This record gives sequence, C-alpha cells and structure tokens, in this order.
Amino acid sequence: MLKLHLAEGLVGVSGVSIPIGNSKESKESPGSTWPKDIIALEPGETAWDVVLKKIKELSDSDCRDAFMVADLDVLASRHQVFRQALPRVSPFYAVKCNSSPWMLRVLAALGTSFDCSSQGELEQVLDLGVAPSRIVYANPCKPVSHIRFASLHGVKLLVFNSEEELIKVAQHHPGARLVLWWTQDSDSIFPLSSKFGARLEVCEHLLESARDLGLAVVGTSFHVGSRCQTPRNFMKAIVDCWPVFEMGSRIGHDMSLLDIRGGFSREEGSDPEFEEVAGMINTALAQDFPEGSGVEVIAEPGHFYATFVCTTTVNIIAKKAVLEPGGRRKLLYYLNDGHYGTFRIFPRESEPRMPIMVKELSPKLSLFPCTLFGPTCDAFDKLFLKEVQLPELDVGDWLVFPFMGAYTSVLSSTFNGSSPTSICYAVGPELRSLLETTP
Ligand SMILES: Cc1ncc(COP(=O)(O)O)c(C=O)c1O
Repeated sequence: MLKLHLAEGLVGVSGVSIPIGNSKESKESPGSTWPKDIIALEPGETAWDVVLKKIKELSDSDCRDAFMVADLDVLASRHQVFRQALPRVSPFYAVKCNSSPWMLRVLAALGTSFDCSSQGELEQVLDLGVAPSRIVYANPCKPVSHIRFASLHGVKLLVFNSEEELIKVAQHHPGARLVLWWTQDSDSIFPLSSKFGARLEVCEHLLESARDLGLAVVGTSFHVGSRCQTPRNFMKAIVDCWPVFEMGSRIGHDMSLLDIRGGFSREEGSDPEFEEVAGMINTALAQDFPEGSGVEVIAEPGHFYATFVCTTTVNIIAKKAVLEPGGRRKLLYYLNDGHYGTFRIFPRESEPRMPIMVKELSPKLSLFPCTLFGPTCDAFDKLFLKEVQLPELDVGDWLVFPFMGAYTSVLSSTFNGSSPTSICYAVGPELRSLLETTP
C-alpha cells in the first residue's frame, strides 16, 4: 500500500520511465499560513504528484537543481505500522537518521519519543516542547558538557557501556537512570559492536561498579546493528537480556526497562519483512518479559520510520561516453547531487539503487553500463560503487530516487561549494489539522 502511495507501482523497477505529463496540477491552499517548504496536499493528491509538478516547473526554467520531497503522511503511517505490529514497544525515534525539523515536529505531535545522540539533538527535541522523560540519550560515549546539559534539562535516561562512562555520569549526572548496552549484532549490514556495547562477560562488573558509585541502572539494551538480516537475532538478543536483568536485580538495581533499539528492516526485497521481525520480537517478549512483568519495552527505530519518507530528484548536468578496452560502450552521467550530498551512505550498500527515469522512452532501448557521478571535482564522488544499467539519456534529463529518507540529508556537506539539496514537505489534510492543533 505504502509503495503504491509513493510511486504508483514504479518502485524499485530497473529502467522504468515515465513522461512528465503524468503530473496532476496541485494548488497551494489560498491564504495558507504554512511556511513555503510545506506543500498542502489536496484529497487524492500524492507526494509523487508533487515530484512530477516540481520537475515540470524546473524544466520550464533555467534552473534544474536537485530537490527532495518528503511525504509526511508516509512518516505518520510508518508510526502507525510500528505501533500496530509491536504494541508492547514504545518507539523512541533515532533523531540521527533524519533530523529535519518537520520530521521531528510530526513525530512529536504523534506522541513518539526520541533517541538523541548529542547535545545538539537534545536541544532540537527539547525545543519542540517534548518532555525530557520522552528522551533517551542513547550515545554511550558522551562528552562531559553534554552529560551536564542532559542533567540540567532533566533528561535522565542515559545509555552506557563502560566503567569510564559511569565515572563521568556519577560526577556530572548522579540522578541518571542508566541503561547498560551489551553487544549483539553479528548479522547486520551495518554492525555496531566494534564501536559500541559491552561484552556479556563484563556486564556483572559494570553493574557492580554502577552500584558502588551510587548510580541507578534501570535496564539493559542491545542493538542488532542497522538493517539486521536475521530476524531471529532480535529473538536471541531479547532472550539473552534476561540473565542481564537477573544479574542487575541480584546486584541491587531496580531493573524495569528493556531497550531493543533499532535495526528494523526497511521492508524491501533485500531485507527481511518487518512483520516477521515483529513476530519474533513479540514471541520473545511474551516468553521472557510478559505483560504484567513490570518491564517497559522501548525501541529506537531510524531506518524503519524515515526510509520511505523522502524522494530525491536529480538532474543530469553533464555526460561522457567512453569506449572501454574490448569495445564496450560505457556512459558516465554527472548529476547535481552525489556522495557529498544526499547519497553519502550508499557506498556502504552492496547494490546500487535503480532510479526512475522521468522521460518517455521506448521499452526496446538498449541498456548501457553507467557510472553515476556527483557534481564535485573529487573522483570518489560517485553515487554507488557499482555500475547501473541505464539507457542513453541526455543532459537535462531527470532521475528520481525513492526511499531516500534515512541517513541522507543529515550526512550531506558543503564540500566544493555545494549547497544542500532543498527539501519540501508534502502533508495531507488530516496530518495538517493535527499539526495545527499541536503547539
Ligand atoms: C544507538 C542507536 N539507536 C538506534 C539506531 C537506529 O538504527 P536503524 O536506523 O537501523 O533503525 C542506531 C543506528 O546507528 C543507533 O546507533
């Protein structure tokens, strides 16, 4: 359902092309007091219509800048899907994944809580009027000044994974409620355990150190790694949390919180289905932390909430055809967004994303191996490590990349004089009235 909403069945299909004329004309609401970057969707209109309309407008002008469209209704529906699939789990959205003010505002209005990793993120969320009790400061390696900021502003829930962190917290935030992060991420695309998490063998020592320093540990957490490929890992990690809970209680801590963090799949071909992951989590929770056990369960989803929200549209600003040894014809396309813009995360992925081409093309056109370069003067500025198969396109043509909401705009830089890709936010009538009535 969601996929249709985004791209009307065109999603993820290699070499799909559509003519610009498909766009429905959308009207800005007259007399609207909404900021310019918000586009009010009419009933029946979609964010995809907005993408096509913008392409048409820009094509009629001299300026064919890259742009992003964020569909805030999709964000709201991801929240709904998460809540329905995991009714025991309270989501604390991972702000680092996409911290755009409108994303956070919508989530705050929907009642989501937040996972912050730095003082900057704490400030951003607190400035929205979110209660400090709805925040977990989830970075286990925090600068002293940020710990003090959390203390001053009443953010009590803090994650740790080392004795050195406990010493800083005891000195600067003795009233903290601590969550011990232990390690379990053997099968994910972006593992975290080389940087974060305590090994199970040292948990007892850490729990005793916290007690000896007068600190309260309230729970434990793990992170299976971003985009976990094996749903069973969630189940195993939850089951493995039980001994840490017992250990903590025996040592004298009031253990009442389980944080299952992020790593949920994006529900695309390459990842396990979210429903399967959720089923495993629900089974493990019912077995080891049943309702009525007094244990609150939270999660810190990032990818799951943000991935589908944004679409990036780029323009071909230059092109070069080369003949490789053996006579193979290869096309180099130079785009106005790239590795130093919103595509920075993609070299970590094994397969390139396939764009949608906004052009009327014959289905019989030959495909060529193509490298997609970004606009800067750095040779490493490629969208993907591997080639993609595309037809012959022209300077001025548009390529649309859906599923660009997670770890994209937050990572972009101003390298080589680039300005950030502009974002506009499409919002439907229902969500608009929620935002209007939420301070
Ligand atoms: C502490 C923490 N929580 C949550 C997340 C979000 O993970 P994901 O985007 O895979 O859901 C991350 C990702 O790096 C993380 O480090």
